[in-house]
Amino acid sequence: MTLSRTGEVLLHAQLERALRDDIRAGRLRAGAPLPSSRGLATELGVSRGVVTTAYQQLVAEGYLESRQGAPVRVARAVRAQSAPPPAPPLLARLAYDFSPGLPDLAGFPRDRWLRSVRFAWRDAPLDAIGYGDPRGAPELREALADYLGRVRGVAADAEQLVICTGYRQGLALTCRWLRGQGVERIALEDPGWHPQRLIVEEAGLEVTPIPVDADGIDVAALARSDADAVVVTAAHQFPTGAVMSPPRRAALIDWAERGDRLIIEDDYDSELCRERVGALQGLAPDRVLYIGSASKRLAPGMRLGWMTPPSWLSWSLISAKAIEDAGSEISGQLALADFIARGELERHLRRMRLRYAHRHRTLREALARELPRWRPHQFAGGLHVLVELPAGTDEAGLLAAAARDGVAIEGLSLHSYTGDCQPGLVLGHARMADPALDRGVTLLRHAATGD
Ligand SMILES: Cc1ncc(COP(=O)(O)O)c(C=O)c1O
Repeated sequence: MTLSRTGEVLLHAQLERALRDDIRAGRLRAGAPLPSSRGLATELGVSRGVVTTAYQQLVAEGYLESRQGAPVRVARAVRAQSAPPPAPPLLARLAYDFSPGLPDLAGFPRDRWLRSVRFAWRDAPLDAIGYGDPRGAPELREALADYLGRVRGVAADAEQLVICTGYRQGLALTCRWLRGQGVERIALEDPGWHPQRLIVEEAGLEVTPIPVDADGIDVAALARSDADAVVVTAAHQFPTGAVMSPPRRAALIDWAERGDRLIIEDDYDSELCRERVGALQGLAPDRVLYIGSASKRLAPGMRLGWMTPPSWLSWSLISAKAIEDAGSEISGQLALADFIARGELERHLRRMRLRYAHRHRTLREALARELPRWRPHQFAGGLHVLVELPAGTDEAGLLAAAARDGVAIEGLSLHSYTGDCQPGLVLGHARMADPALDRGVTLLRHAATGD
């Protein structure tokens, strides 16, 4: 053991730490005697007081035991920490990333965001940093109620709006509430965003997968199921890109009204879409729980989402949120309120919509050139496009070959509940500039054809 004499950390504190680490790691076993304070002090070249102070501290913490006339020992109650299990392999970050989950992080407007952080903090009342309203900062709820009403046609009331930690928390709280009401099954679009399945199953609900077609979810199939609630991506189905048609919207609302059922609307990226239809919630605020998120609109690391529950459900969700975490982190909320109020969010979304549309064109042209037998679905906007692969393509084999070439892609089967789907890819084009998109597609051709 060597102690540093630079004076940055006191000698007895260094000795305490070294002994604590040795005991925790099992290098000093329970019951083992320690040298006398005089002996250890001589060995380390320090005063005896340094050793006795360290021993006393560790006795007080329960690591050591001392008895009159006996050597100080490692306490018998101390257990060595078991070796940690090997970490599960993390997905490697590959050079060409076509996974659809992320927006273009390089496009995040740092300077404008920083300005909003500064203004928001400068003007925030002291109460803003106490235990606040579990629904979230009133400034943000007001800014969002106005924004969602104007831009998404949501029937939003700042009093009913609840800020949550991303869409996931909104869905998780709702699923737990449903389970508490005795609901057993929830319908999900098939294919649909796969983390959703984990969230609803974690809440104890069973998934009823319902197929989607070019008009959105198959409401007739939903009506034949015994689900009491459904999650839909009405404005931009994930991952097919379908926009729910007006007759389907009407039929879905009718289904919910007839059976007193709940529709959860996942509005994850509609401002980034080409065809912007208003939210379903505006048509039936009493049947639809609307959930939005900053993840694709700004950045997922913000972990900010918002929900507008039907009024009969809002108190239950507010109290679930209060019990879970007493409200979301405040700093991002204050900044987002300012960012929306200044019109920055709308400017950012306009910029990103153009950027993503351009990148999508580049991707499509490269696919047409390099892989003409692959069939991209019609582009509905947003951050990704579904590409159908020729029948008989080994999707898993293609993913593995692409990863060997440094290309990350997601297969359609990842998002299929039944596993009964045509081979396909959900290609995200948001993060790559033109040269990377071109090179990525060339590598995909190599993975698919060996050429
Ligand atoms: C379909 C869909 N819904 C919701 C989300 C957003 O989830 P969260 O707000 O928890 O990041 C995503 C993000 O990838 C998504 O793809």
